[in-house]
Amino acid sequence: MIELSNVEKVYQTKEIETLALNQINLKIEKGEFASIMGPSGCGKSTLLNVMGLLDMPSTGSVRIQGEKVTNRKETKLAEFRNQNLGFIFQSFHLVNDLTVYDNVEMPLLYRKGISSKERKERIMSVLEKVGLSARVHHYPSQLSGGQKQRVAIARAIIGSPEIILADEPTGNLDSRMGHEIMDLLMELNKEGTTIVMVTHDEALAQKTNRIIRLFDGSLVN
Ligand SMILES: Nc1ncnc2c1ncn2[C@@H]1O[C@H](COP(=O)(O)OP(=O)(O)OP(=O)(O)O)[C@@H](O)[C@H]1O
Ligand SMILES: [Mg+2]
Repeated sequence: MIELSNVEKVYQTKEIETLALNQINLKIEKGEFASIMGPSGCGKSTLLNVMGLLDMPSTGSVRIQGEKVTNRKETKLAEFRNQNLGFIFQSFHLVNDLTVYDNVEMPLLYRKGISSKERKERIMSVLEKVGLSARVHHYPSQLSGGQKQRVAIARAIIGSPEIILADEPTGNLDSRMGHEIMDLLMELNKEGTTIVMVTHDEALAQKTNRIIRLFDGSLVN
């Protein structure tokens, strides 16, 4: 489903060069729920961003669903992300001056050939799935942290992506809300979505199929 071959990522700033990812060879299988763990600064977000084509590796290649994607132009990449990938972030990344409905609709607006009636049906159906049917016209500032993350999940799944990439999705939530979000992700995984999640929470990681451990940019076996 996702295959990284000899991936390296170097960040170059004026003062220092950081090898954020060092010779990563990794395969995520279809239907897997994998978690990525490791100390702060070890490269977890970089790895997830490279898997999700939000960032390009300095060397090496990324294949998603068998297609080599690392040498495509940004417009093609954006289209590929929109069709195949759903993203969830620790700080939700919602648009504050749009309602729940409008936030969830956004990914569909980049797709051709979906009528507004069909958009509405899909939006209401994913909002029901995440338990937010009663919050359609709320703004993000009127929601709890857990509710905001559920809006972000609805937005991530509205386009029916095969893969969800989540960077510490429970990081800003208390433990009860964190478990609720985890249950939702596990349900999506049961329905067939491949998920890769960065987490600091060992208990949540233990619920996934596989824990990928990173240290200083390298995979730990
Ligand atoms: N845009 C950037 N420019 C320069 N260096 C960067 C950049 N992004 C990340 N880094 C460096 O790359 C390394 C890996 O960062 P990354 O954000 O992937 O870590 P992380 O494991 O996600 O950490 P955390 O648990 O704190 O989120 C760090 O040393 C970081 O300083
Ligand atoms: Mg990070």
